[in-house]
Amino acid sequence: MHFEAKAYTVDLSDYKEINRTADLVKKDIGKVDILINNAGIVTGKKLLQCPDELMIKTVAVNTNALFFTAKNFLPAMLESNKGHIVTIASMAGKCGVAGLVDYCASKHGAVGFNDSLASELYSLKKDVKTTVVCPIYINTGMFDGAVTKWPTLLPIMEPEYVVDCIMEAVLTDRAFLALPKFSYIFMALAGLLPTEVISLYGDHFGITHSMDHFKGRQSRKA
Ligand SMILES: NC(=O)c1ccc[n+]([C@@H]2O[C@H](COP(=O)([O-])OP(=O)(O)OC[C@H]3O[C@@H](n4cnc5c(N)ncnc54)[C@H](O)[C@@H]3O)[C@@H](O)[C@H]2O)c1
Repeated sequence: MHFEAKAYTVDLSDYKEINRTADLVKKDIGKVDILINNAGIVTGKKLLQCPDELMIKTVAVNTNALFFTAKNFLPAMLESNKGHIVTIASMAGKCGVAGLVDYCASKHGAVGFNDSLASELYSLKKDVKTTVVCPIYINTGMFDGAVTKWPTLLPIMEPEYVVDCIMEAVLTDRAFLALPKFSYIFMALAGLLPTEVISLYGDHFGITHSMDHFKGRQSRKA
């Protein structure tokens, strides 16, 4: 079998550039069957130390870009009643973490985007699928320095494991994937408990202080 791959470069913090690049893709390739919104950035500073420009860029890349990639590629999916939009969000889109105010806000936005889009597609009775992925820390370099207090329950996951899980979720049309598995219990409890208890709970599992020694990406890993 013969496959061809083509790459396009786009700055996702600039919606006009997203629109321009999407037009180019549609002109060159035609219909896009699967859109994977994977790009993301993190500032990793507490709110009062967070530079304004970085907070704005975090929301632009992690949340706003989703509107524009989807607006560009969804119409052809709706027309053919076939397609899949994958949103790589984060467990930070389901809970709050000290040192991740802008990132958590942007990932809550990503989860909200996905959930509302799924609801719109359901109401339109269209067979376009959505999958939202909410992992905890992954060893890609993006969160270097972040620590876990309970590596058995909440390990820093290897990218290969996460990719395998995402592939399986997409191929089986799963609407929601949380990683690692323990995070399903974590989310269920977080949904039931009062805020004060959630803070204690976050402390107990080391989530509150997980970003205290954050360094972020020092250099790109192969
Ligand atoms: N690494 C983790 O611990 C972790 C945990 C949960 C969720 N995530 C999410 O997974 C996704 C992938 O992250 P990763 O860990 O592979 O990080 P990464 O830094 O290796 O990859 C992020 C990618 O986003 C691209 N990107 C950043 N800004 C961009 C921009 N303005 N325009 C276009 N592309 C841009 C980068 O070029 C890079 O390829 C992100 O959405 C991230 O938020 C990561």
